[in-house]
Amino acid sequence: MSDRRDFFGKVLGAYAGLGALGALYAAKRTWDPLPSVKAAGFTTIDLSQAQENVLYTEMWRGKPIFVLKVPKQDKKAYEDKRLITVGGDKFFIAIGLCTHLGCIPAYYPDQHKFICACHGGQFDAAGEVLKAPPPSPLVIPPFTVKGKKVVLGEAGPEYKKLKEAGLVA
Ligand code: FES
Repeated sequence: MSDRRDFFGKVLGAYAGLGALGALYAAKRTWDPLPSVKAAGFTTIDLSQAQENVLYTEMWRGKPIFVLKVPKQDKKAYEDKRLITVGGDKFFIAIGLCTHLGCIPAYYPDQHKFICACHGGQFDAAGEVLKAPPPSPLVIPPFTVKGKKVVLGEAGPEYKKLKEAGLVA
C-alpha cells in the first residue's frame, strides 16, 4: 500500500513539477527582451514577438526606451495618435524618462498606466500625462518602421508625420 502511495505521490509530484515548469516558461517568455541590434547610434527592435500589455525596455544612445504593445481594451490609449502601427498592432515607444525630473516611471499593467515614484506623476499607456507634475507626455524618439521592426535613431516618414502634427517634441 505504501508502495502504491509512493508511486502516486511521485506521479503527482511529476505532474506538479511539469505544471510549475510550464508556468515558469510562460513567465520567462514575458521577461525575455525583444530581439534587438545596436549599431552606431541606431537600435533596431524586432516587435514580432511582443506580447500585449507587457512593457519591454531597450537602450538607445544610453537612454532607456519603453516598448509597449498597447492593449486593445484600453480604448482611450489605443486610439491615441502618438501610437506607432507595426504589423497591424499598435505600439507605444518612448524614452523611459519622466518629463518632470527624469526618473524612470514603472508600468502597472493592471491599471494600464505608468507611475513615477519620484513625485507621483502618472502617464497613460500612450504616454500622455494623467497626473502632474510631469509637464508633457513621454518623449517619442526618432524612429522608422521596417516591416515588423522599428529602427530608433532614424526619422522615417511616420515620425515626420507625428512631428508635423506637433505630437513629438
Ligand atoms: S520625476 Fe517623475 S514625477 Fe517628478
